Parts: sequence; C-alpha cells; structure tokens
Amino acid sequence: MNAIELTNVSKIYKIRSDKRDSIYEHMSKINKRRSSKEIVALDDISLSVKMGEMVGIIGHNGSGKTTLLKIITQITSPTKGKILINGRVIPFLQLGSGFQGEFNAIDNIRMHGVILGLKKKEIESKIEEVLRYSELERFAYIPVKHYSTGMFVRLAFATAIQVEPDILVLDEVLAVGDLSFQKKSYQTFLSLRGNGKTIVYVSHNLSEVEKLCDKVALLNDGRLEAFGESKEVISKYKDIIESSINDKDIWIVEKITEFYKTMLGREPDKAGLVDFVLKIKSGKLAIEDVPEIIKNSQEYSEKTPF
Ligand SMILES: Nc1ncnc2c1ncn2[C@@H]1O[C@H](COP(=O)(O)OP(=O)(O)OP(=O)(O)O)[C@@H](O)[C@H]1O
Ligand SMILES: [Mg+2]
Repeated sequence: MNAIELTNVSKIYKIRSDKRDSIYEHMSKINKRRSSKEIVALDDISLSVKMGEMVGIIGHNGSGKTTLLKIITQITSPTKGKILINGRVIPFLQLGSGFQGEFNAIDNIRMHGVILGLKKKEIESKIEEVLRYSELERFAYIPVKHYSTGMFVRLAFATAIQVEPDILVLDEVLAVGDLSFQKKSYQTFLSLRGNGKTIVYVSHNLSEVEKLCDKVALLNDGRLEAFGESKEVISKYKDIIESSINDKDIWIVEKITEFYKTMLGREPDKAGLVDFVLKIKSGKLAIEDVPEIIKNSQEYSEKTPF
C-alpha cells in the first residue's frame, strides 16, 4: 500500500514586481508595469512512496525539495495535480519552528503536545522520555533560547518522534547535531523504518542518503529527473554535479584534496569530494570548516588515537 501518492503535481509561485524594460522607460518613469513573475518550483511530479519505505530527496539548491515536502505535509497546496496521503504526517521541516525561546524544554514539549492534540496524561508521560532521549535532563528548566543549535535540534527531534507518526518528513535537520546524536538519530531512523514508518528525507549529504534510504528522488529545476534505487540515482546526480564543476571550482577540489592528504594520508573519494564542493558552492560550508569536519570523522580518530 502506498503512503504517499503524487500525480502530476506542479507548484507555481507568483512573485509580483515592478518592471521597466528599457533604460529609457526607467529614466522617464513611463510605462511602469506591474508584472508578475512565475516560478515553477515543481513541474509535473508523479511519484509514490510505499508504506515503510525511506525515500531520500536530493537536488541542487532551489530544485524544489522543500516545496515537495511542504506539499506532502500539506503546508502548501499544489497548483495542479493530486496528492494522496495515508496516515499521520509529522512535518519536521523547520526545526522546532513552534518552540518558544522564552519557554523551557518542558513547557515547549507540553505546548507541542497540545498543538498536536495529545491528551494531558499522554503529554506528561512523554516529557521524561523526550528529555532522556535528547540528553537534556540537566537543561530542562533553561529557556530554550539559551540552547546551542545542536541542543535545540535534539529537543525538536526527540519531541517530534514521540508522537509516533506514520510518515516522518525531514528537511536536512540532523546535520547540526554532534556525532553521537547523529548516530543515535540514525538508529532511531532504522527502528522507525523497522516499525513500518514511512520516512521522506531531504539531504545534501549524499553518502548518508545512500546509507539510509531505500529509494532516492532526484529533483532538477522542479522536475523529477530520476526516482529509483539509491545508488543509481545518486551516481546520476554526481555525474550532473561533476559536469557542473568548472574551472573556477578547481581550487576547492585542490584544497580539499590537500586536507585529505595531510590529515588522512589519502585522496578523498568521489562521493566525499562532490559533497564538499556542493556545500561550499552553495555557501553552506566554508573551506576553512573542512579540516574540522575531517577531525570529527571516525577515520581521523582511528589514525590519531588521542
Ligand atoms: N514561498 C515562495 N514564494 C516564491 N517562491 C518560492 C517560495 N518558496 C520557494 N520558492 C522558489 O521555488 C524554488 C524551489 O525552492 P525550494 O525551497 O523548494 O528549493 P530546495 O530544493 O529546497 O532548495 P535548498 O537546497 O536551497 O533548500 C526556488 O526557485 C525558490 O526560490
Ligand atoms: Mg530546502
């Protein structure tokens, strides 16, 4: 049985702008036209996700990933096409977006439960479990605005999984947690999947997507470029990226290769390299952060035992 079914779904955003075409029009302030520009965020997408599947969504910045999640969670409706959802969807798009900074963890967990329509007793029984899972017992009474990003994510994730959703929708959220929390959330993913939950996961971390997901959807400019077996789709994406790495990016490649050689004594593999270049190009990561990331890797800690 399918948990999610999209049929010919398109999403078009209209943006209004004042537009003058020529310099003359601009200078004489004549012919000021109110025009509206259309952005096709999703273009005729059809795909279905079976119950219990974990599906990754990958693609360039602006390719439509978040929009697709918003359609699935019904935060926004499609301009065209049909969607069908079987089960309770928990959107986890923006981390703890409902959390109030002034409130402490316990009050935020309570409020979240109320919003989701849980009974008071149910909520109270979850509080301890959320604090334990997120390892925030010691910080339970501190307003969450004083939390670090990682602590905030842990609380948001622990809260979201407590309501036992049928379908869990995640938009690249766990990357901010530290290594031990990433491991833990990875385990949670596996057990949620084992319990027959459906998971849709947007991420730029291709090696993680490949490890975790049964299937992958590749979006390109709002179109579904490929949907199928993770390995195949990811390798197709890498080919696309590689052909888009141009001469201007060679210095990034060289710099990363140098870090790998000095710190790990080897060249980076293609997956790692493409991951880094993509993140640096999109401004999600600075080249200066790369050594720090390598330092946090298992491989590095094995090479340098203390
Ligand atoms: N509310 C909105 N109004 C107008 N345009 C939007 C809106 N939301 C998204 N878009 C546009 O739709 C396109 C797809 O955006 P979307 O956020 O889905 O991309 P994405 O794949 O999630 O990108 P990223 O990797 O940067 O998170 C982009 O061109 C974006 O500018
Ligand atoms: Mg996005």
